Amino acid sequence: MSVWSLYTEDALRLRGRSLLSMADLTPDQVSGILDLASALKSARGGVCPVNWSGSRSLAMIFEKASLRTRVTFELGMRELGGVPIVLGPAEIGLGKRESVGDVARNLERWVSAVMARVFDHRVLVEMRDSAGIPVINGLSDLEHPCQILADLLTLRERLGRLEGARIAWVGDGNNVAHSLMIGCALVGASFIAACPRGYEPRPETVALARSVSAAEASVEVVTDPIEAVRASDAVYTDVWASMGQEHEASERRRVFMPYQVNSALMAHASEHAVFLHCLPAHRGDEVTDEVLDGPQSAALDQAENRLHAQKAVLALLIGA
Ligand code: CP
Ligand code: NVA
Repeated sequence: MSVWSLYTEDALRLRGRSLLSMADLTPDQVSGILDLASALKSARGGVCPVNWSGSRSLAMIFEKASLRTRVTFELGMRELGGVPIVLGPAEIGLGKRESVGDVARNLERWVSAVMARVFDHRVLVEMRDSAGIPVINGLSDLEHPCQILADLLTLRERLGRLEGARIAWVGDGNNVAHSLMIGCALVGASFIAACPRGYEPRPETVALARSVSAAEASVEVVTDPIEAVRASDAVYTDVWASMGQEHEASERRRVFMPYQVNSALMAHASEHAVFLHCLPAHRGDEVTDEVLDGPQSAALDQAENRLHAQKAVLALLIGA
């Protein structure tokens, strides 16, 4: 039986499409990606059910540093029998040496898809609108959808369900928080963020998440970390200063210290609650060693699942 016969019509409609935001996906497409990711995870080490035999390729553009995204996209392409081409910050001069549109129009003549990590989300939009091949967001200032697909896979494995789960976000209302809130809404999980005033998620993204959310799943933003974490099934945090915000790090450390995820805060979550972090972590700032290295932490499962979730995304967007 072909691996494709396992997936719904809606998931198969992803072929040729771009993934810039979690909102580019329907609930059915999210489940299709997670199911394919689980199947590819189980098959790992044996014969991969998708094998392009060198006929598909991915340009990977990085304007910023990366460990997980870099390794998992390159390895994922290789495991699918595809060809990854990594283009680092100094290589193509995106928007400087050559316009974003011209870079995209050249790439589409050679490769099957582009994955890009950029400072400004609008660069991804321009790339998608200029190229006739799928463009995948590998992190922008606005969203990190590939991270959240891996996290939903991790939560489904750990909690046994997504629908009806209560997911707390503590800290900066940033790119990862934006994708997580939309992802939770799509799978019917409730999302509650605790952020200091002035560091909340964008109101437009909160409205977008609410607009796609299943009736029983809520999307809330509060200021009190205990209120957010209380009785939650998962507690997620991220760095207080994202890439590009390093100059604000000391001011942010002062503002965010009450939002540190430590054992005292985790004690307000459900007993079975999972701790999530997309990594890299700044130990002793947003999370303590005891939580990040403790039994509730799923941070390394999330990192592992980047590989499986992205292989599913590549397989569905690029096609057989
Ligand atoms: N979580 C994540 O995207 O890690 P990298 O920045 O190392 O790719
Ligand atoms: N919010 C972080 C995530 C890194 C994976 C950043 O943008 O730097």
